[in-house]
Amino acid sequence: TLPKKVTIIEVGPRDGLQNEKLFVPTEIKKQFISALRNAGLKEMELTSFVSPKWVPQMGDAAEIVADSLDEETRNIVLAPNRKGIDRVYSTNCQAVAVFVGVSNTFNQKNINKSTVDSMTELKPIIKELKEKNYFVRACISTAFYCPYEGKIEEEEALKLCREFVETGADELSVADTIGMAAPHEAYSLFSKIKEEFKETLITAHFHDTRKLGLANILASLQAGVNRFDTSAGGLGGCPFAPGASGNTATEDVVYMLERMGIDTGIDLQKLVDAIEIVRPHISREITSGYFSLHSQT
Ligand code: HMG
Ligand code: MG
Repeated sequence: TLPKKVTIIEVGPRDGLQNEKLFVPTEIKKQFISALRNAGLKEMELTSFVSPKWVPQMGDAAEIVADSLDEETRNIVLAPNRKGIDRVYSTNCQAVAVFVGVSNTFNQKNINKSTVDSMTELKPIIKELKEKNYFVRACISTAFYCPYEGKIEEEEALKLCREFVETGADELSVADTIGMAAPHEAYSLFSKIKEEFKETLITAHFHDTRKLGLANILASLQAGVNRFDTSAGGLGGCPFAPGASGNTATEDVVYMLERMGIDTGIDLQKLVDAIEIVRPHISREITSGYFSLHSQT
């Protein structure tokens, strides 16, 4: 049986914008975040405290967080390392996402370390965050396929999930970074994850590169997942994963779920209004079905 209610974690301000080459003005990012909240999004990745040399678009992370924290929202920021965590500590943010690739080659390209070395650095950080009462989200990249290594074995992905859960992570966000998973693979891996990690929030993060995002979400729902990372307008992609394109569009996911009688708490018209705020500042067309039909411009 499918859930009656699903939680959408909006990743547009972070995953959605990080791959945009032209700098989106900080003021526009803040308006976007505020409009997304107004549409009913209660959990959101606001930005990331990564190296501004690697990802210039996220160089205004401190300014974003200074103005955009909100009591009623889980305000998540990404941090890749100790330096990132120290930057988080100088803000009032209470939820941190760390990220590691199952694929060693991808992890090396993304954060300049092997997967094993990343985990060695992150484990004490996660424990420290938990002692300080932070919410810790662990993003597991390339859980299905890697642009460099190809197919990833389920057991490898499960092993990394296990390490995070044993270290104290509150949530696993398991990602198909380059949008290559097919529904039977989503169903299979998420069934195993839901079976093994009963006390951990389990979230699915699909990129829509091959337009299988909605099908993968349906398959994951059938495997018991009730939390999904999506991006308004279907923006997104990791700059260090060749071939990656946007996340599954929030508006298309919300439309599908609401049509299925599954409550998301999100107002689709207000979501369209939020996308209109960033649209003039991004370099690509917004091609999601719902936005294309309902945009006024
Ligand atoms: P590095 O060059 O190995 O870092 O990069 P380093 O430790 O040698 O430091 C080099 C310089 O960077 C130093 O400055 C540091 O202070 C600075 P300098 O002395 O040269 O002036 N530095 C930092 N500055 C600000 N914030 C920091 C930070 N760390 C070091 N946190 C590093 C290593 C991890 C920093 C780099 O590789 C990096 O920033 N990578 C981030 C890549 C990224 O943002 N990827 C996208 C997010 S993940 C994703 O999209 C996947 C996801 O959506 C799920 C999915 O779809 O798969 C989550
Ligand atoms: Mg992503």
